[in-house]
Amino acid sequence: MTVKNIMVTREGKMNDNLMAVVLAAGKGTRMKSDQPKVLRQILGEPMLGWTLAALRPIFGQSIIVVAGHKAQAVREAFPACKFALQERQLGTGHALMSAMEDARKEHTTSLLVINGDAPLVTTATIENFLQAAMGTDIAFASILLPDPGDYGRVWRENGEIKAIVEARDYDQAKHGPATGEVNAGMYLITTACADRLLPRLQNNNASGEFYLTDLIVLAAAAGMNIKAVECGNDPALLGVNSPLELAAAEEILAARITGELLEEGVVVHGRQYLRAGPRAIIEPGCEITAPCEIYGDCHIEEGAVIESHCWIRDSHIGKNAQVHSFSHLDGAVVGESAQVGPYARLRPGARLGKHSRVGNFVELKKTSLGTGAKASHLSYLGDADIGANVNIGAGTITCNYDGKAKHKTTIGADAFIGSNTALVAPVNVGQGALVGAGSVITEDVPDGDLAIARQKQKNLPRRRS
Ligand code: UD1
Ligand code: CA
Repeated sequence: MTVKNIMVTREGKMNDNLMAVVLAAGKGTRMKSDQPKVLRQILGEPMLGWTLAALRPIFGQSIIVVAGHKAQAVREAFPACKFALQERQLGTGHALMSAMEDARKEHTTSLLVINGDAPLVTTATIENFLQAAMGTDIAFASILLPDPGDYGRVWRENGEIKAIVEARDYDQAKHGPATGEVNAGMYLITTACADRLLPRLQNNNASGEFYLTDLIVLAAAAGMNIKAVECGNDPALLGVNSPLELAAAEEILAARITGELLEEGVVVHGRQYLRAGPRAIIEPGCEITAPCEIYGDCHIEEGAVIESHCWIRDSHIGKNAQVHSFSHLDGAVVGESAQVGPYARLRPGARLGKHSRVGNFVELKKTSLGTGAKASHLSYLGDADIGANVNIGAGTITCNYDGKAKHKTTIGADAFIGSNTALVAPVNVGQGALVGAGSVITEDVPDGDLAIARQKQKNLPRRRS
């Protein structure tokens, strides 16, 4: 569904001028950290990214993010986004004010305003809200919580909405016992309503802030059309304010993604311990044993097996490949039917050819391994091009760094590198060459030659005392 078929006005006219405003300028005091809350990671993605991902199918580029606290860092994390700056964090109402100039420039007629700390929100929840909120001057989503906690409470009299009262300002004597109906932090506001009421916000409340939620009491006084879109106990609308809430949100999102994977035909053992990020593509027919973490831009092809305790980010794992336990893959490409680990470390630029094999305690960085090549034990291979069917013996090290610069090692197809070899780069080992165990190779080895670069063994008569 697109904005166009949602925003049909009561007269049946299309209303294209809908924009989303994401409030993301706050300090996130309850996180007890100086890092902007909206950049805290959930399944490997910044919190704000989740909210933006839910908005994008509806709003495309028509999204303004209000940044403030550490705005530069927030901008850098989302270079493709439009930003408005709230220089001082004077409250959510003030944050919306900071976006109004940009909204006006786009001739916006209605604004979907959402807190940037709502990573659980889904496109469907936003769409349903928009449908229900359409035609009002101001609407907000309300949810029912057994404990209203820090949420703003919906104050009604005879069913009619009077105000949203923030937790710190709630007075039982005045507002009556809390019903559990709270404000979820998602609003649809006409630009006309915002323009008229935002300048009237006051900060004479317990927090000394300009509350966006006070637009409700002002709209009621002005006789405007107000609506609470009741969303029951939809967990998609829970906010994240503390480490505990972040952990709870992450669990919900992990379960949501794992549920989708299971549904699509991925076999997951120990499903409650799988942490797969939202951008991971895991094809049906894969098998994963948790605990496992799979983040960023991963693509795991059909038939691949990932054993427990693996950490995988931004990596491509080919058809029928096997990643054994305790392997760490970051920016790696693993070819079809290749074998990795246990205990392998593939760093950015590691490229494993089909049927190749990297075993325990082998580290690869910016290194390609040809089809069928093997490095089965205890090696460091950095800045190297290794041909097809090469065998890298246990303990082989590419000495790629001379203290100033990195240098390259090339090993031709079918070469055999004996155990405990040091390849001092830059160096080339030719096709089919054989390097004797324990060699320190400082010069190129021609194709097919045998290179031995180690002290010749002497056997001397043993002296006995
Ligand atoms: C807010 C609502 C509350 C609602 C809850 C839902 C207000 C006053 N209260 O409370 O009714 O129940 O969300 O989750 O709006 N922000 C800014 N600039 C500021 C202050 C905040 O951009 O000056 C941003 C924050 O980064 C955050 C969002 O606004 O993403 C909400 O602010 P937060 O302080 O988390 O509000 P809550 O106390 O959760
Ligand atoms: Ca919040």
